[in-house]
Amino acid sequence: MQSEEIRRRFLTFFEKRGHKVIPSASLVPENDPSVLFTTAGMQQFKAYYVGKANAKKDFNALNLTSSQKCVRTSDIEEVGDESHLTFFEMLGNFSFGDYWKEEAIRYAYELITKDFGLKIDYVSVFSGEGNVPEDIESAKIWKSINQDLIIKKFGRKDNFWGPTGAEGPCGPTTEIYVNGIEIWNIVFNEYYQSEDETLAPLKVKGVDTGMGLERLVKVIQKAQTVFDTDFFIQIMQIANSRIIADHIRTSVFIISDGVTPSNTGRGYILRRLLRHAYIHANKFGGDLIILNDVIHAVIKHPSYKELYEFKSPEIFKIVQEEIDKFKIALENGLKQLKKGVDPFVVSTSFGLPLEIIEELVDVDKIKFQKQMEEHRQNSSVAGEQKFKK
Ligand code: ALA
Repeated sequence: MQSEEIRRRFLTFFEKRGHKVIPSASLVPENDPSVLFTTAGMQQFKAYYVGKANAKKDFNALNLTSSQKCVRTSDIEEVGDESHLTFFEMLGNFSFGDYWKEEAIRYAYELITKDFGLKIDYVSVFSGEGNVPEDIESAKIWKSINQDLIIKKFGRKDNFWGPTGAEGPCGPTTEIYVNGIEIWNIVFNEYYQSEDETLAPLKVKGVDTGMGLERLVKVIQKAQTVFDTDFFIQIMQIANSRIIADHIRTSVFIISDGVTPSNTGRGYILRRLLRHAYIHANKFGGDLIILNDVIHAVIKHPSYKELYEFKSPEIFKIVQEEIDKFKIALENGLKQLKKGVDPFVVSTSFGLPLEIIEELVDVDKIKFQKQMEEHRQNSSVAGEQKFKK
């Protein structure tokens, strides 16, 4: 089964069960300044969980489903293993006060085991921690569906989700594991976490689920890693490196949602992804040509026709300009490093991040980080003084 069919089946499954299909929101969150990128399917629906907006009024439905474009850079160190990516699509079903644990768990079980024919290794439920009690109800529901199912219990670190950003809806989760990886996270939003991290019960309870499409495709296609799924087959034939494949794919989607490389925020993340990809491409002796070919392979995937038709000239142009700039910085930085100039000085003068300098020369990391810390303190002192005037 191809990824497009898998996405379609997920959405249709929920559509048939009274959910309205909603298109993915932009990777740049519209109303949430506390996060740089959209990291979850529920993000565009945050207001509906807390009663600030009314889903019935806006969508004429209390239950929704979507495949949301997400970027998560918190897992960037893990990119290259079998299942982590910086860009992925998150399949989700959402309910704002309509159904609750029983339906959410039954839907998930049916879709995974019947429609997709997968075997669940085990599920996990919240064990209780702090003020939040154990989720006995979910464990009972799982047992009533299949009494042979293995149910593991974990605390807040594993089985409690949210909020995205500084505050928002959150709650205990139940998670489904297939072939050794967590594929589906079902969140029972029943709290609101404030900035000071205190929890208050939500007036209306909600369901928020998230399943990584690329991971689901991996298990359905019995691929060894996410890079061996149909999403990546063409890309990997050109990229040779999982880092290049991941970072260019992510950059393409970030650019297509209107971000350009810069030294702050989203633009800086994009800059770092592109620069990293370039350094890796260079290692393979391929330069910008590889990157362009990878971009081409990303946007030629049948799922992303829109990018191919409308956005590709812009994407190529932005990448080209950024790499041209970087080449100059890199050349000058390298010259300085070869002359023995301190890596920290080179880093700040040419805008080369530590990870990139490390690829080029041996760096005394402890010294580097100390210098960075001092630099930060000095610049924030300077900033404060300026501010006080
Ligand atoms: N919002 C939940 C997650 O991102 C489903 O895992």
